[in-house]
Amino acid sequence: MSFHHRDNYLYCEGINVKDLQDAMQDSPFYLYSAAQLRANVAAYADALTGLSARISYAVKANGNLTLLKLLRALGCGATLVSGNELRLALLAGFAPADMVFNGNGKRRDELALAVQHGVTVNIDSEFDLAHIAQAARDANKPVDVLLRVNPDIQPDVHPYVATGMRDSKFGIRAERLPWFLERLRHEPLLHLVGLHCHLGSTIKDVRVFRDAAILMGDLTTAVRGQGFDLRYLNLGGGLGIDYERAGKTPTPHALLDAVRGRLPGDLTLIVEPGRSIVGNAGVLICRVIGVKRNGDKHFIVTDGSMATLIRPSLYGAYHHIDFIEPVDGEPRTFDIVGPVCESADFLGKARILPTPHEGAGLVVYDAGAYGYAMSSSYNLQLRPAEYLVDGERVTQIRRAETFDDVMLAQSTLSVIMPRAESAD
Ligand SMILES: Cc1ncc(COP(=O)(O)O)c(C=O)c1O
Repeated sequence: MSFHHRDNYLYCEGINVKDLQDAMQDSPFYLYSAAQLRANVAAYADALTGLSARISYAVKANGNLTLLKLLRALGCGATLVSGNELRLALLAGFAPADMVFNGNGKRRDELALAVQHGVTVNIDSEFDLAHIAQAARDANKPVDVLLRVNPDIQPDVHPYVATGMRDSKFGIRAERLPWFLERLRHEPLLHLVGLHCHLGSTIKDVRVFRDAAILMGDLTTAVRGQGFDLRYLNLGGGLGIDYERAGKTPTPHALLDAVRGRLPGDLTLIVEPGRSIVGNAGVLICRVIGVKRNGDKHFIVTDGSMATLIRPSLYGAYHHIDFIEPVDGEPRTFDIVGPVCESADFLGKARILPTPHEGAGLVVYDAGAYGYAMSSSYNLQLRPAEYLVDGERVTQIRRAETFDDVMLAQSTLSVIMPRAESAD
């Protein structure tokens, strides 16, 4: 375990996190373990042994440049959902040939960028096909494309993170595929190289991946039968992690065992994990501002909030919370909340913890995925710093946002209308 308690102090690899917190001026902050990242990638690589396969890390889960460089060095490709993520992946050194550009609303300028760099693009809708074809014609460049299929499979997850159900906004229904194939026959610059699907996120029951593999394998065979030379099958991401610490984490091995043997053997499999690569490799470290009671309710108020980590407020998500140092006040049932002016601002509810002193350090576990990436400066809570531990070494991999950073975009005002010439 890269994060563990020793003598009631939290360690990240070889580092006492309380020492780090005391040495830093800023709180809260995100803290990542390089060893855990490496272990998570190795688990996928091991599970994929013997298959022709690619790990295409979903940048949306955590786009820190240093972490991306580390993942690239470990052999990952990159799954992108915006033009700016494409720029970021280029900065991190990913080869365009190892990128996939996803999304149900890709803008024309983003498609032009993808075409310019030769990135594989997912077709998500009729208009998306038209826009990609136009971008290819404008650049007079061929583009490899995947058709994103809406598989109509319902994983047992929060509705906000289910993406492959029949009424979700993503992908193309299987019965519409003939229309797309017909259009593609008339688009010589668009080369259909495979199919894609993504079921959703936080999936624990890997049987849905088996269902998806069977469906997508059959569709691949059918599309090949129409004369298309499909080489890839992209099964998306979505593997859950053990937020509840119940010891029931579905492993990449379980995922791959569910799909192995159910796909045409000559395909290259692409998987797009995000959460299961970075989720348990990162934690959020906060400080206690104070403890208060309202009626029968007890609150620990911390400097971390829904602006720092929105998953509890947005999805009712559970994150395990503990102290990073010895705390021996009277145990109570606490809600752990932040300073943001919303009743939805909580990190955890009904947790039995000892009553802490002001300044005590708290850890919110499994915050590496969709933590910093979904943070905001709501209430002008400034986005936190990020640190990476690698053995005994700690590196600041992003400084905390400052008030000046936030104000910069408002520092110059320009009158847009009426235009200068029409004003006089
Ligand atoms: C198309 C696609 N691929 C991969 C992912 C990564 O999912 P996860 O972080 O659950 O592995 C997402 C996230 O929702 C996605 O939309």
